Amino acid sequence: MTNRDDAIGVFDSGIGGLTVLQKLLEILPSENTVYLGDTARAPYGTKSVETVVRYSFENTEFLIEKGVKLVVVACNTSTALALESLREKVNVPLVGVIEPGVRKALQITKNKKIGVIGTEATIQSGAYTKALKTHSGDIEVYSRACSLFVPLVEEGWIDNGVASMTVEAYLGSLKQSGIDTLILGCTHYPLLKKAIRNYMGSAVQLVDSAEEIAREVGTALEKQSLARREGIGNHSFFVTDAPDRFIKVGGRFLGEKVESAVRIER
Ligand code: DGL
Repeated sequence: MTNRDDAIGVFDSGIGGLTVLQKLLEILPSENTVYLGDTARAPYGTKSVETVVRYSFENTEFLIEKGVKLVVVACNTSTALALESLREKVNVPLVGVIEPGVRKALQITKNKKIGVIGTEATIQSGAYTKALKTHSGDIEVYSRACSLFVPLVEEGWIDNGVASMTVEAYLGSLKQSGIDTLILGCTHYPLLKKAIRNYMGSAVQLVDSAEEIAREVGTALEKQSLARREGIGNHSFFVTDAPDRFIKVGGRFLGEKVESAVRIER
């Protein structure tokens, strides 16, 4: 039987989902969490639908075996390509990252021109465009895959000349399009907020969906009387490759040190 003390499961292709976990810890500090980063098989953003669906299913199964009460699909690529299939296959509550970001963008936009940036697979899937247009048919959506942003962030080059030039190269056409809202549709992009804001200017609002996701998780747990409200949560980390790099780089994404991570075989 599921109970309040069971953990929230979170998975991502690797390190990036820690930006989502950070908001969960901030907004729901009493919750226990189990994080799985599929570091051996990242990136997902350049892979096919079949592969991302298979990996996402295996990650969800692992978290279910750990006894989690809900799974957050923190990876945008997994949400875009695999969330619907996951919903058909598993019966644990699932929260993806696209809907919360879409809802926030629709609340913010005034001119109904919304930009979306993400990995190649996310943009190619059209998942954001579909979700935006389902909510509001007269929205104009401008999307762009920004493939170099992930390696740039993992290298820690978020606030230098290379970051500014890369942002400019990818976002030039979006700037021309007159959008007033830009969805950061990838786990890594919130770390590039400063460079993106500098280039796009203050008239364009950036949507980082992590906060919305944490609130949606809180609401989902409340509804099922599964919210843990007392004490400080415990947090465990699992990875599919050697933990060293995850621990070293992870702190930048989580905003605090990742003390340890356990490697699982894949
Ligand atoms: N986590 C992925 C996403 O949010 C980015 C990294 C990758 O391509 O695996 O789309």
